[in-house]
Amino acid sequence: MRHATIMMGVLSAALLTSTPAWVQQAPAITSTTVELPSGDQLFPGGSDADAINNNCLACHSADMVLNQPALPKAAWESEVGKMIKTYRAPIDESDVPAIVDYLVKTKGKT
Ligand code: HEC
Repeated sequence: MRHATIMMGVLSAALLTSTPAWVQQAPAITSTTVELPSGDQLFPGGSDADAINNNCLACHSADMVLNQPALPKAAWESEVGKMIKTYRAPIDESDVPAIVDYLVKTKGKT
């Protein structure tokens, strides 16, 4: 009986001090820096581009928009409307005029 108690003590000490396998196998997580091509990160144009940068980069790159042909204002308005209605882009109505202005200035056609 006494022998068994000692054995239990040794056993639980071993269990408590040994590190479980999953802890030893956890991968080391480190930070890394990724250099992305600067061209497609943001819409150029500084503060004029704030509205479009804040609203139009969640789902695709700026290039997706900038590589489109020049379009008349009405076409850009409906394009922004399509992003909101069809693709459910969470865009604040009050940002729409600034976005359309930017698109007309950058990729507009009369
Ligand atoms: C909720 C996601 C989402 C957001 C936010 C979004 N778009 Fe899109 N956009 C899409 C999808 C999806 C497509 C279609 C992609 C494809 O055909 O491969 C698309 C395509 C486009 C195209 C290519 C032409 C076309 O109609 O397919 C243009 C231009 C465009 N978006 C402009 C914008 C502009 C401007 C904004 C900001 C007002 C915007 N997008 C925000 C989802 C989004």
